[in-house]
Amino acid sequence: MTLMAITASAALTDTYTATARFQALAYLLAAILFILALAGLSKQETAQRGNTLGIIGMTFALLATVWAVIDGDSDNRVLTIGLIVGAILIGAFIGTWKAKKVEMTGMPELIAMLHSFVGLAAVLVGYNSFIEQPGTSSPENAFHMGEVGLAVFIGAVTFTGSIVAYLKLSARISGRPLTLPGRNYLNLAAIVLSVALIIWMANTRSVSAGLAPLIILTVIALLLGAHLVLAIGGGDMPVVVSMLNSYSGWAAAMAGFTLGNDLLIITGALVGSSGAYLSYIMCQAMNRSFISVILGGFGSDGAVSTEVKDYGEHRETNEADVAQLLKDAKSVVITPGYGMAVAQAQYPVADLTRKLRDRGVEVKFGIHPVAGRLPGHMNVLLAEAKVPYDIVMEMDEINDDFADTDVVLVIGANDTVNPAAQEPGSPIAGMPVLHVWEAKDVIVFKRSMGNAGYAGVQNPLFFNSNTQMLLGDAKKSVEGIIANL
Ligand code: TAP
Repeated sequence: MTLMAITASAALTDTYTATARFQALAYLLAAILFILALAGLSKQETAQRGNTLGIIGMTFALLATVWAVIDGDSDNRVLTIGLIVGAILIGAFIGTWKAKKVEMTGMPELIAMLHSFVGLAAVLVGYNSFIEQPGTSSPENAFHMGEVGLAVFIGAVTFTGSIVAYLKLSARISGRPLTLPGRNYLNLAAIVLSVALIIWMANTRSVSAGLAPLIILTVIALLLGAHLVLAIGGGDMPVVVSMLNSYSGWAAAMAGFTLGNDLLIITGALVGSSGAYLSYIMCQAMNRSFISVILGGFGSDGAVSTEVKDYGEHRETNEADVAQLLKDAKSVVITPGYGMAVAQAQYPVADLTRKLRDRGVEVKFGIHPVAGRLPGHMNVLLAEAKVPYDIVMEMDEINDDFADTDVVLVIGANDTVNPAAQEPGSPIAGMPVLHVWEAKDVIVFKRSMGNAGYAGVQNPLFFNSNTQMLLGDAKKSVEGIIANL
């Protein structure tokens, strides 16, 4: 007997079995714990507690689900237990292996890949529910087929969208936006056609009659998912990743509807809505239109300037001179970026911070919302290295302070400190950036002058008269400065 049948029979007969009661209670507890977990994750100080609450909630949910499935399947209990334990072991093995292997810098790709699994799961659950349909002409069956169609649609869009995001983030395909002629009409046509196919499905009475619209719907949704993400430029990928996170939540919620599993609906809706909200905040931070990004670049003509400009000569410095500059400074702001993650320089950076603060220098961190390759990437690294939370400022909190700052250390950041964002036509035009150039002295840590940042844009900051380049691996450079302090 499926989980849906257990829930349905309990609801219909109004005679709750002990298992159904336990399950309902465990699901309620898990849902409350998930909400508390999200609330905890919204602040660094409470994030660890939030994570623990989420783990406890998931344990309740898993135990209750597994118990109900085993209890309801009295004929094949041993086989069911074997299949569940086998699936959990295989999943846990792959998950642990991947999580141990992945570098912090490869996290966005991994996350995009994991979103694709949620999408695929929703498609498979949809197909399973479709095959198991009672095939009656009842309104319930029509409604259920509508749910199946929606689950497959959202799941398939998430699946291919996430795979394309994975390929773009890992540079296996170009990050440039694919701008097919009339692409917005293509997306619109795909959505209208999908709605029509779902209505068609809901009006069929058997597997054989509903299979054709389901397969066409799947193919259209797979193509739409790929096209939506292919049309988005590399610079907007952070928003896409969080948008796909949201889609994966809605896909899970739809799978919850088709399975009749309330907790999956609640959990999916929590992920879906929080992901959508995060995407909205990120769009605001990057000055991008939310609607434009979720509709695959709708409204942007993709016209960007690729002109290479001559900004003149840059100045180079060394660790001893930077140490001297820091000794003489009263205020220092550190703006870390992706390069700090690559170099794993957060530990020496935290050490340098302690040493400077011990000497009476005021040290603060300025964090751009999309610095690195993950939302909150820099905050995670700094927390890992035990940098106090109260000196870590958001971009909006610190941007007015740069003019009164003696030295800014730009450690492996590029796009997020690029003044070209203020030039119309630049690929990052309009993106708010950290105004580091307003400080008295700016030291930029990077390995060579040859490489651009993630968006591939030239950075005039490197050629300003108050900027000096400290070329080399950021970890080694910071360690060298500490040795000279
Ligand atoms: P980026 O623009 O990616 O620049 C990284 C800088 O670090 C480069 O100047 C690079 O120069 C330097 N670097 C790399 N390895 C280094 C090392 N070992 N030692 C010293 N320097 C090193 O960094 P950002 O300012 O953090 O901007 C993030 C970009 O990624 C934005 O465009 C953002 O939109 C995008 N993005 C963000 C996310 C999220 S959610 N945060 C997700 C995807 C994409 P060298 O190579 O010369 O060393």
